[in-house]
This record gives sequence, structure tokens and C-alpha cells, in this order.
Amino acid sequence: MGDSTRGPGRRRWFWLAAATLLVGAAVAAGTAALLVDISEKKQEARNPFYRVVELTDDIEDPEVWGQDFPFQYDGYKRTTDMVRTRFGGSEAMPRVPTSEDPRTVVSQSKSDEDAGLRTIWAGYAFAKDFREERGHAFMLDDQIYTERQRVVKQPGTCLNCHGSMVIPWRKAGDGDTMKGFDAINKMSYADAKALVKHPIACIDCHEPKTLALRVTRPAFMEGIKAVKALQGIPDYDVNTMATRQEMRTFVCGQCHVEYYFQGPEKRLVFPWRNGLKADQIVDYYEEVGFKDWTHAESGAPVLKAQHPEFEMWNQGIHARSGVACADCHMPYKREGALKVSDHQVRSPLLNINRACQTCHKWPEAEMKARAEEIQARTKGMRDRAMNAVVALIGDLKAARAAGVPDASLEAAWKMQRRAQFYLDFVEAENSSGFHAPQESARLLAESIDIARQGQLLVRK
Ligand code: HEC
Ligand code: HEC
Ligand code: HEC
Ligand code: HEC
Ligand code: HEC
Repeated sequence: MGDSTRGPGRRRWFWLAAATLLVGAAVAAGTAALLVDISEKKQEARNPFYRVVELTDDIEDPEVWGQDFPFQYDGYKRTTDMVRTRFGGSEAMPRVPTSEDPRTVVSQSKSDEDAGLRTIWAGYAFAKDFREERGHAFMLDDQIYTERQRVVKQPGTCLNCHGSMVIPWRKAGDGDTMKGFDAINKMSYADAKALVKHPIACIDCHEPKTLALRVTRPAFMEGIKAVKALQGIPDYDVNTMATRQEMRTFVCGQCHVEYYFQGPEKRLVFPWRNGLKADQIVDYYEEVGFKDWTHAESGAPVLKAQHPEFEMWNQGIHARSGVACADCHMPYKREGALKVSDHQVRSPLLNINRACQTCHKWPEAEMKARAEEIQARTKGMRDRAMNAVVALIGDLKAARAAGVPDASLEAAWKMQRRAQFYLDFVEAENSSGFHAPQESARLLAESIDIARQGQLLVRK
């Protein structure tokens, strides 16, 4: 048996040896190529920034930063995209430009959509013009041209969250940011606006040498210091003490928060001394005796809640699990060998694959359905709370018309103030309940209860 196979066996050995050599050579060549590729990619990853420009704290224009970081700049520019989701995003509404307002596209109006909003904000500029928010590229123009500018004389403080402020503050304070902050806050909007050139830019979130994240807004530095003090951490300095993961939320928390203008200096303050929950914020406003305006129909001293995304996120399971704003709104994406943060800040529901599926192993349709179910339930409860608050305002209005003196309405006014703030806190929070479903539901339930109790009180 052995002999009969010897000839062909020998040949087979020869071919086997030759093939092995060939394969070996091919593998070696392949491996070498792969190693070169990996090492090139490692090099890219290690030194991903081929600096064309030496960035400094005097360079404000994002286009210049974009020469060093083209992928991030490209994403940043795409914040002009307008795409609607079921409860969020934004819709591009064409408009005829005028000399007063040159915008050719705006987002859909919210105050026109819901008569309830006009009622709860009666006598306040928001009843005049309140639109769906859109991408960061529009923040400066939308603020300059909102009709709310024409109804009320707005202060320079408004620019804190709508412009690139690092350089204007430093210049206005002769090198001292804090002094510049105080100086610009009390200016008229028109005077302050003349100092501001860009919407939020790279310099507002990044240190120019290392590109490390940084907090640049004094109001957040002070607000988060108060919050940390409540947690037993004294003298908190956000830029030296925050973890990197915290910074991935804190940079957003500089603007996506409830705020008010304190005193005649119109200083920007975040009302967090008692904590970040809506109840603690109303308690704070009671303590300092603050009201945004007097309600035109009921006479109550009332409050307007504004975009409390940071506060609401803080009450949710994602915050508890250490998930940052940037994890969902600026998820990583690959550009060649680079892992780049998506600087097209937008609704994560337009980007579920990167925004959610890195952590959740469910199909895209299922993730979307889970988010929308939370939002639809929140909306349903929100409509009921709206009905309850509007009914209370109706009763207060009727009581005044019937000659009930203001002094005997004070207790019910307090209830309108609180019920309305809780409702508005959920309404103004732009995730429609997603950031903290249980907390949103709790606030709406309390709002309904307080408003209905207020009605019982007025009717007595
Ligand atoms: C776990 C993911 C997740 C985290 C973390 C998160 N968000 Fe969101 N956010 C969402 C989803 C989902 C929506 C709803 C989007 C929609 O309805 O289209 C949303 C909506 C928003 C919106 C409105 C967007 C729109 O297109 O209408 C803003 C603004 C926002 N979030 C800011 C923040 C900020 C600021 C933080 C951190 C304090 C944060 N988010 C944390 C998932 C997240
Ligand atoms: C603490 C930060 C902050 C300050 C101060 C601030 N804004 Fe905004 N503003 C935001 C954020 C965040 C959004 C997007 C979320 C939203 O619209 O709810 C926004 C959205 C807007 C919009 C677009 C949506 C709308 O409401 O029609 C306008 C207009 C606007 N702001 C005007 C103003 C004016 C006027 C002032 C001064 C009275 C001001 N903002 C002060 C953070 C701020
Ligand atoms: C609203 C804040 C914000 C603005 C404005 C912003 N970035 Fe970022 N940037 C981030 C966050 C958050 C990260 C993630 C950082 C981390 O994980 O440590 C990041 C990361 C980066 C990185 C590190 C690599 C990466 O992609 O993760 C670079 C480089 C960068 N940004 C460049 C820019 C440039 C250039 C601009 C202006 C065109 C810009 N950024 C504007 C928030 C911002
Ligand atoms: C300097 C203040 C400021 C900072 C910092 C900031 N935002 Fe915004 N953001 C705004 C304003 C103002 C708008 C609304 C602009 C408009 O409607 O014209 C907005 C809009 C948005 C939207 C709506 C986009 C859309 O397409 O509908 C999202 C989502 C958002 N911001 C998330 C974030 C996240 C996440 C961060 C942190 C990485 C962040 N923002 C940091 C002020 C800020
Ligand atoms: C960085 C990881 C991470 C990302 C990104 C993330 N999640 Fe989550 N998500 C979690 C964790 C952790 C929990 C808590 C689950 C637990 O502990 O059992 C959670 C819980 C949830 C829940 C249950 C909420 C509740 O109140 O019980 C929903 C719904 C959800 N995520 C949807 C989403 C959606 C939609 C996105 C994208 C917009 C998203 N998640 C992005 C980590 C993440």
C-alpha cells in the first residue's frame, strides 16, 4: 500500500511544501501590510491632530479651528439641518424675509399650536412668539429676531447662552471674565449684541491647546458649586474637580437649564441653592421673592420655566447610570481610524444606531418605540395638566370679575404659581419626558392636583 502511493506521495509532499511556503509568504506579506496599516492607524489615533494652525484663546472663528479638526467642524456646520421627529427635532418653515427679520426659514411655532400656552403665559412675551428650538447654528439669529425682542426690552444677559462669549467677556472685563460677565449682563441687548460675532463656537467648550472640555459660563460655575455643596462637597471648582464623564454633561448644562435674571444688574443665576428638582426651585423663588411677571388674567405673580434639560436628566435612570448628554447627543462615529464625537448635536432619535445601540441591544424600531411611548404618555398627562391649570386661571378670572378682592385670592394665586411652574417645567423640557419619565409624570400629577385644589379654594 505504501509503495503504490510513493510516487504520487512524493509529489504531493513537494506541492504541499511549496504551497506552505507560498501561503507562508503571502501571510507574512499580509501580516506586514496589516502591521503597517495598524501602525499608521495607531499613529493617526495617537496623534490624530495634524495641526495646521496654532490655536489660542484669541481665535474665535470656528472655521479656523476647523482647519485642525475638519471632522468636528463638518459636524458642527451640519447643525443647520432641520428634521422633525414625532415629538422633537424641528420643521423648516419658509418665511418671507422683511427688513426687521431677514430669516427665510424658521421652525414651527409652539405658541400658535396650543391655545393653553397663550393662556398660561397671558401678559408675558412668550405668549407672543415661542418656537420649537432648532440646531446650534441658529441660536444667535433666532434670539436676535424673535418677536420677544420687540415686545420687551431684553438685557445683554440673554447672550450668555446664544453666542460665543469667551472673548467678548474677557475684552469687556479688561482680561477679567467675571468682570466682563457682570458688565455685559447689564448692557442693553443691542449694545451687548454688537460685541458678539458667532453662535456657540469651539472656544466655548474647548481649551485651545489640549482640546480638553472646559466650562466657560460663570452662572454654571456658581450653580454647580451650590449643588455640590448640598452633596457635601465644599468649594467645588468645576474645571479642576469634575471628571471627564461629568464634563460631557456639564458643558451642555451651561445653557440647557432653568435660569433667572437677578436684580437690576440682570445677573444670570441658576436657582439651584435648594437642589435641582422643580419643587426645590419653586421653594428657592419663594425665598428670594422672585416672579417673572404678573398674570394678565388672574393677577397671580407667576414664573416661566425654561429648558430644564440638565435638571430633568439629573432625575432620570440614564444620569444614575452615568450616561452623559454627549453619549446620546454627540455619539462617537468612525472617520477612517479616528473615533470622532459627532458634533452635529441633534435629536438622538435621528441617529438611534450610534446614540442608543452602543448600549442597548434592541433593534432600532424597538428603541424608537420605547422612547416614543414614554413621550406619548407624557404628552397625554401634560394635556390634562394644561386643562387643569387653564381651568384654575378661568376660575380666578371669574372671581376677580365678580369683585372678589385680590387679598383673598392670594392662597389660590400661590397654587396657580406652583401648578403652572410644574406643568411648564415638563412642557419646556425638550425631551417630552424621555430624560426622566417618572419625574415628569410626578410633576404633572402634582400639577393637576394643586390646580384642582386651587379651584376648590376659589369656589369656596
Ligand atoms: C439616554 C440618552 C439621552 C441623554 C443622556 C440625554 N438625552 Fe437629550 N434627548 C434624548 C432623546 C431620546 C430625546 C428626544 C428627541 C426627540 O423627541 O426627537 C432628547 C431630547 C433632547 C432635546 C430636544 C431635542 C429635539 O430635537 O427636540 C434637547 C435640547 C436635549 N435632549 C438636551 C439634552 C441635554 C442637555 C442632556 C444632558 C443634560 C441630555 N439631553 C441627555 C436622549 C438623551
Ligand atoms: C441659561 C441659558 C439661556 C439664556 C440666559 C437665554 N436662553 Fe434662549 N435658549 C436657551 C436654550 C437652551 C434654548 C433651546 C431650548 C428651547 O428653546 O427650549 C433657547 C431657545 C431660545 C429661542 C428659540 C426658541 C423660542 O423660544 O422661540 C429664542 C428665541 C430664545 N432662546 C431667546 C432668548 C432671549 C430673548 C433671552 C433673554 C431674555 C434668552 N433666550 C436667554 C438658553 C438660554
Ligand atoms: C457644546 C460644546 C462643544 C462645542 C461647541 C464643540 N465641541 Fe468638540 N467636543 C465636545 C464634546 C462633549 C466632546 C467629547 C469630549 C470627551 O469625551 O472628552 C468633544 C470632542 C472634541 C474633540 C476630541 C475628539 C473627538 O471628536 O472626540 C475635538 C478635536 C473637538 N471636539 C473639536 C471641536 C471643534 C473643532 C469645534 C468647533 C468647530 C468643537 N469641537 C465644538 C463638545 C463641543
Ligand atoms: C451656549 C449655550 C448652549 C450650549 C453650551 C449648548 N446648547 Fe444646545 N442649544 C442652545 C440653544 C440656544 C439652542 C436653540 C437654538 C435655536 O433654536 O435657534 C440649542 C439647541 C439644542 C438642541 C436642538 C437641536 C435640534 O436640531 O432641534 C439640542 C439637541 C441641543 N441643543 C443639545 C445640546 C447638547 C447635548 C449640548 C452639550 C454638548 C448643548 N446643547 C450645549 C444652547 C446651548
Ligand atoms: C452609554 C449607555 C447608554 C446609552 C447611549 C443609552 N442608554 Fe438607555 N439605558 C442605559 C442604562 C444603563 C439604563 C438603565 C438600565 C438598567 O440599569 O437596568 C438605560 C435605560 C433605558 C430605558 C429604561 C428607562 C426607564 O426609565 O426605566 C430606556 C427606555 C432607554 N434606556 C432608552 C434609550 C434610548 C432611546 C437611547 C438612545 C437615545 C438610550 N437609551 C441610550 C444605558 C444607555
